[in-house]
Amino acid sequence: MARLLITGGAGFIGSHTCLVLLEAGHELVVLDNYANSSPEALRRVAELAGPGAANHLHVIEGDIRQPGDLERAFTAGRAITASAQSANAAGIDAVIHFAGLKAVGESVAEPLRYWDVNVTGSRQLLAAMAANGCRTLVFSSSATLYGYPDTVPIPESAPVCPINPYGHSKAAVERMLADVAASEPGWRIASLRYFNPVGAHPSGRIGEDPNGIPNNLFPFISQVAVGRREQVQVFGGDWPTADGSGVRDYIHVMDLAEGHLAALEVLLAGEDQQLTLNLGSGQGHSVLEVIRAFEAACGQRIPYVITSRRSGDAASTVADPGHAKSLLSWQTSRTLQEMCRDGWAWQSANPDGYR
Ligand code: NAD
Ligand code: UFG
Repeated sequence: MARLLITGGAGFIGSHTCLVLLEAGHELVVLDNYANSSPEALRRVAELAGPGAANHLHVIEGDIRQPGDLERAFTAGRAITASAQSANAAGIDAVIHFAGLKAVGESVAEPLRYWDVNVTGSRQLLAAMAANGCRTLVFSSSATLYGYPDTVPIPESAPVCPINPYGHSKAAVERMLADVAASEPGWRIASLRYFNPVGAHPSGRIGEDPNGIPNNLFPFISQVAVGRREQVQVFGGDWPTADGSGVRDYIHVMDLAEGHLAALEVLLAGEDQQLTLNLGSGQGHSVLEVIRAFEAACGQRIPYVITSRRSGDAASTVADPGHAKSLLSWQTSRTLQEMCRDGWAWQSANPDGYR
């Protein structure tokens, strides 16, 4: 059992990962300011984890940019230590850092918010970790920092060339982590570059609940299917891909959650190390394929129209997941059909998300 601080644990990927971590027997302190999530997500995580889970899930409402809020989280970790009579008095054994802002368009309009929350927030977190003797971190990075990739499937050695402020903020945090790791011994860090996380827990109790009009394909399709939106706009039918629509590497959020558990176990078991790993399936699917798979899952037609390309999009981004497979002994196992089935289970049971 490890005592883990999960920043942003109420969000889409955080909530699913919290469930996987609770089921693996870990003690969690979640720090979230609910800027893009609801406390209801964590209530449902506790419900899914079963009786007794509530004793292992400690939730703190607070902001990663506020040293006082971070200190409250580390203090909560020390309280767990006391009750578990653990040998290590440091409190938190490792941090999984999900908290951040993630909308590309918003980052172009409000870059300073992205530098503030994503970069300053990460800096404050690292300072609090060092002050509390915790040097093990799993960081939510993104495939967005590859920009327009030259090579597909994309290896981790591909150039980091972000094309928007969101991507720059993730690249800056990866750089900051490398500098911190080089500054003193003891740091164990995994930067996980996610490709396109979608789907939901198969129960349909937790899932993705974007504010306002979804920016991303999968929640947009789900909301069309449930009647909240009229039709999907397919951004470009003239890409150099098999059917002309954009190709992405979609990863089931439960596979992604399990990838975090694998990374954490590798870090906790090892010496000082810095890992930078793609988390994806290695398989590309086009927008039109996703629409068809979702139609099969929900049993109805999804109206769509092909429009012009969205600025900043690449034709195809697919992970080379080989490095994660060999270092973490982890790979994705869930299909596009399962992503659509579980995404639909969530959306159809919760047409308005957690509201
Ligand atoms: P999300 O918005 O659902 O979750 C982020 C969580 O962080 C939310 O609960 C939000 O309330 C919280 N948060 C935001 N600012 C905070 C702050 N200042 N202090 C405390 N909590 C704060 O997003 P997600 O999809 O779960 O993504 C999690 C992480 O993964 C993010 O860092 C994101 O950039 C990264 N990521 C996501 C994707 C994706 O497509 N979903 C892809 C690549 C990387
Ligand atoms: N798309 C549409 N219609 C939509 C939305 C998207 O056709 O309404 C297309 C896009 O053009 C693209 C594909 O669907 O071809 C996927 O688009 P998303 O917006 O769902 O995802 P992106 O690949 O653009 O980016 C996402 C996240 C980033 C993250 C990246 C990692 O938004 O934050 O995946 O690869 F970094």
